[in-house]
Amino acid sequence: MPKLLIDGKNVEVPEGTTILAAAEQAGIKIPTLCYLKDVQAIGACRVCVVEVEGYRNLVASCVTPVNEGMHVLTNSRRVRESRRTVLDLILSDHDGECQTCERNEDCELQMVSRALGMREITNTGEKSRKITDDRTPALDRNSAKCIHCRRCVTVCSEVQGVRALNPQGRGFKTIIGPAFNRGLDTVACVQCGQCAAVCPVGAISEKNHINAVWAALDNPSLHVIVQTAPAIRATLGECFGYPPGTRVTGRMVAALRRLGFDGVFDTEFSADLTIIEEGNELLKRVKEGGTLPMITSCSPGWIKFCEHFYPDLLAHLSTCKSPQQMFGALAKTYYAETAGVDPKDVIVVSIMPCTA
Ligand code: FES
Repeated sequence: MPKLLIDGKNVEVPEGTTILAAAEQAGIKIPTLCYLKDVQAIGACRVCVVEVEGYRNLVASCVTPVNEGMHVLTNSRRVRESRRTVLDLILSDHDGECQTCERNEDCELQMVSRALGMREITNTGEKSRKITDDRTPALDRNSAKCIHCRRCVTVCSEVQGVRALNPQGRGFKTIIGPAFNRGLDTVACVQCGQCAAVCPVGAISEKNHINAVWAALDNPSLHVIVQTAPAIRATLGECFGYPPGTRVTGRMVAALRRLGFDGVFDTEFSADLTIIEEGNELLKRVKEGGTLPMITSCSPGWIKFCEHFYPDLLAHLSTCKSPQQMFGALAKTYYAETAGVDPKDVIVVSIMPCTA
């Protein structure tokens, strides 16, 4: 257990702990950008630099392990100036149209800039190329917002095993995206959305369908219904300041009715149908000698992953639709008939926790 001093505080942590983690244990916050706990520590952005007594250069705290007797300064003038220079350079090549950005007020670059008191960008000049890609149904890319932290590259390749995103080109010309700067729709991207979940800025984000929903709600000749996945009622409250995990089912349903939805449904219903259908399919396969073992097909992301990477397992997948898709089918048939609505006028909006 090496003992060290961080900003004058005695800290004792297990061998191999990084300075960043040791500081966190001591209640000292060091700003980070490219680092993401349990996913990536590559020391790329240098926002987390600290000063270590006796070291000639500042070190990136997210990748530097502690040593016995280290004296670390996390907020010296030298450290603050270095972080501000790094941030100045990042901001100088960042599309700073914050007001219209999907991640406005939920942007790590904004937060770090605020924490470091950035009030102007002194490095101005040429900007790198802007490539936008909105051709998939789930994700939008905008390279002009990318800060090259590579979190998306790591999560896509090392966590998801997909490898759809990689650095293309070199130096100032580097673009993070699919090979040959093609669209995400042309590669084996499974639309899982993990890249958007880890992106610290708005370089890759969930496709926004809100205007299309408003257009449907505003059209009196349409019958617009909504289904919410079980996860939504347990996560939505957090956006409104409730403790994580607070169930807000009643408030959510009331809010959806006030928005103008003609019906509010729970995908749990069609999740039960999926289980019944998959159960029947399994019994049929067991009785009639079908392909076993049978694997659930209730996640569209998983189906696409299987199609691209394990096509030899396709016969093992259940042929059932996902709960979200089953609901859509029922809404256009059984529900439309019961409600006396022409199926072509029924619009189904899905509020799901998953981009796929
Ligand atoms: Fe440590 Fe980027 S957060 S180098």
